[in-house]
Amino acid sequence: MISKQMRQEVAGSSAIRAMFLEGKELAKQVGAENVYDFSLGNPMTPVPASYNQAIIEAVQTESSLELHGYMDNAGYPETRQAVADNLNQRFGTDFLYTHIVMTVGAAGALNVVFKTILDPGDEVLALAPYFGEYRGYVANHQGVLREVKPDIPSFQPDLEDLEEKITEKTKALIINNPVNPTGVIYSEETIQKIAGILEKKQQEYHHEIYMVSDEPYRELIYDGNEVPFLTKYYENTFVTYSFSKSLSIPGERIGYIAVCPQMTDCDQAIQGLSVANRILGFVNAPSLMQKALIKSMDARTDVNYYDRNRQLIYGKLTELGFACVKPQGAFYLFLKSPEPEEKNFVEAAKRHHILLVGGSSFSCPGYVRLAYCVSYEMIERSLPAFEKLAEEYQKK
Ligand SMILES: Cc1ncc(COP(=O)(O)O)c(C=O)c1O
Repeated sequence: MISKQMRQEVAGSSAIRAMFLEGKELAKQVGAENVYDFSLGNPMTPVPASYNQAIIEAVQTESSLELHGYMDNAGYPETRQAVADNLNQRFGTDFLYTHIVMTVGAAGALNVVFKTILDPGDEVLALAPYFGEYRGYVANHQGVLREVKPDIPSFQPDLEDLEEKITEKTKALIINNPVNPTGVIYSEETIQKIAGILEKKQQEYHHEIYMVSDEPYRELIYDGNEVPFLTKYYENTFVTYSFSKSLSIPGERIGYIAVCPQMTDCDQAIQGLSVANRILGFVNAPSLMQKALIKSMDARTDVNYYDRNRQLIYGKLTELGFACVKPQGAFYLFLKSPEPEEKNFVEAAKRHHILLVGGSSFSCPGYVRLAYCVSYEMIERSLPAFEKLAEEYQKK
C-alpha cells in the first residue's frame, strides 16, 4: 500500500492535468478540431534553430564520456560560466560561475532551494494567485505554505497583507514574475517595496528571509515591459530559472539557480544547493542540454507568436464583455468568472468544448485561467464558441 500522504496527493492531483486528459477524451468524441483546449501551459513555438544546431554540434564533437558522463552536482563549469556571463551582461550583475547551479528545470530548482533552506515547520509565502505546484514543492521539505492576498483588479500583491503574514517562522517569499496565471508583471516599485518589508522583518526576527524569484517566463514579455532582476533589489535572493518556455523545451528539464553573490553565508548556501541536487536524486541537470546551452545562451523562441495570440484572444474576450487584466507577460490570461462559482463556469465552457482551468487551482476562486500557448488557428476556431458562451451568460 502506498503512503497515506501520497494517497492524499493522488486524490488532490492537479486539476490542470485532469483537464488536459479530459480534453483528449473529448477530442475522441467530437474531433480534435472541435475542442478548444486552453488548459495547459505547454509551449508550442518551434525550438530556436541555433539551439538545435548546438545540440547537433555537441553530439558530433564531444567525447561520450564528456557528453554523457557524471559531472559536478552543480553542472559543467563552462555552462555555469555562460549563464553567469549572460546574466551579468543583461542585468549588470556580478555573478561568478560558482554562483550558478544547473538544475532539472525550475521545478527542480525550487525543490533544491527549499531542501536547502527549510527546517520542518518553516513558512514560505506565495503571492496569490500562484502556480499551484508550489504547495507540493514546499510540503516536500516539511515547509508550510502561506498565501498573500492580491490587490484586485490590478493583481499586484497586497503589501499590507504581506507584512501581516510574515512571522517568526517565515523563511522565504516566492515571487513569480511574470505571473502564472495572470500574466501580470510586478513593477519595479512593487519589488522595491517588497524588498523594504523583507529587510525590516529580517532585522526584527534576526534571521534571513529569502526571496525566491521564480522566473521561467522572464523573456516572454510584451509591449516593451521589463521584469526587475531581483538580486539588484535584495541580497538574500535565489533566482530560479527554466529554459522550458524561452526555448520551448519543457520536456528536456533544464534550468538553473543563481545565488546572489551578496547573500548571507553565500558559500554555505551554494554548497547546500549542490548537495540538495544530489540527494534529491537529480544528481545533476541533463548533460547534453547543458552542453548545447554554452553556445546558444541568447537563443529565444518567437515571442511575437504569443503576442499575436494574446491580442486576438484578449480583444475578443473583452469585446464579449468578459473581465480580465491585460497580460503583460507569460502566455496566460486570467478571466473573471461571470458567476461566483467558477466551477459552474468551467463546466459551461466545457459544454462549448472550451477547456479552462478554475482559479481555485491557483488559490484564487472566482476566476479561470486560459493558456494561449496554442495555435492562432485554434483561437480563431474557438471564437464562435466563446460568443455562444457569452450569449448564454447574457441571457441569465
Ligand atoms: C510559475 C512556474 N514555475 C515553475 C514552473 C516549472 O517549470 P519547469 O517545468 O520548466 O521546471 C512552471 C511551469 O509551468 C511555472 O509556470
